Amino acid sequence: MIPLCIPEIHGNEWKYVKECLDTNWVSSVGSYVDKFEKDFANFLNINKSVVTMNGTAALALALRTLGIGEGDEVIVPSLTFISPVNTIKYVGAEPVFIDVCRDTFVMDAEKIEELITKKTKAIMPVHIYGHPVDMDKLMDIANKYQLYVIEDATEALGSYYKNKAVGTIGHIGCFSFNGNKLITTGAGGMLVTDSEKLADRAKFLSTQTKVVTENKAFYHPEIGYNYRMPNLLAAMGCAQLENIQEYIKAKRENAELYNKLLCNVKGITLSVEKEWVSNVQWLYSIVVEDEYSITRDELIKRLAENGIESRPFFMAVHNMPPFKGSKHGSMKVTEELEERGLNLPSSVSLSKDDIMKICTIINK
Ligand SMILES: Cc1ncc(COP(=O)(O)O)c(C=O)c1O
Repeated sequence: MIPLCIPEIHGNEWKYVKECLDTNWVSSVGSYVDKFEKDFANFLNINKSVVTMNGTAALALALRTLGIGEGDEVIVPSLTFISPVNTIKYVGAEPVFIDVCRDTFVMDAEKIEELITKKTKAIMPVHIYGHPVDMDKLMDIANKYQLYVIEDATEALGSYYKNKAVGTIGHIGCFSFNGNKLITTGAGGMLVTDSEKLADRAKFLSTQTKVVTENKAFYHPEIGYNYRMPNLLAAMGCAQLENIQEYIKAKRENAELYNKLLCNVKGITLSVEKEWVSNVQWLYSIVVEDEYSITRDELIKRLAENGIESRPFFMAVHNMPPFKGSKHGSMKVTEELEERGLNLPSSVSLSKDDIMKICTIINK
């Protein structure tokens, strides 16, 4: 089976994790936690990073750090993994769903303004599959209406918008280190921000708002969370980060070869890269149009019969039972893409032969 997207582990992961085991520094404080935060911020060229136990925790923490809660509305795409939408509910706020662009699959910034009400507090762009949202347009609107911007950059680590790392443009950016992400810690996440004040607040909330008194007792002035990442996992993150440029290069080369081999297939719309971005192509994506000889779901079956794993695009969240009554704009493009979009194998270790095999079947 050619899998959709598996981790790549060939560096100092064993050495750093072993060091944690050998020294007993396995839990939520330790030198690798500090190092991972520092190295990650350096990689993105941002001031501060706060590690979390997963990407969902980072998103929930971001909302809480910015004081978003009961009675507030957050504009978020419906074509996304459900996690960012769930976190809006965790803090008691309401999602307002926005449509996406047909070519990039991400939030259509042109449609934000029509969804803004007196209750709108934040916009949550989700850079799915690696392509960045049009952040200049989005930030102009956010500034005009004084809204917070939380970037869900979990699928776009290694992507750039006008030379700025995705995740560093809004007030807070969030990342995931789940097993299928560009770098992995097994499970893990990161919140990043340029603001020292927001980073301190996020760290405080993520560590149970713990204040150590003079006699070493714990005092908690607010309700907090245990969203910490253990040193063991941070050690793995440090090792993964050492190879990140190699991973980015491999993903982009995969996409280049796919584009070359699929560009003449009638009815297959290829993944794009707007001139103002560098797309990490985390999951290489195509759209199966009517002109193609079989449907997207039939293609998934054919690929599987040939030992190739593929995955349909996310199902629209606004149609899921918990969000059926939520506000939304037109969902025309979202509903078209959920029917037609397809992710193809995209592991860093994917070989040229594998890509050729996949493309031959799609061509046939
Ligand atoms: C767009 C998006 N947001 C958030 C998450 C949540 O990350 P985690 O699984 O680490 O909680 C994921 C995926 O895992 C994701 O794809």
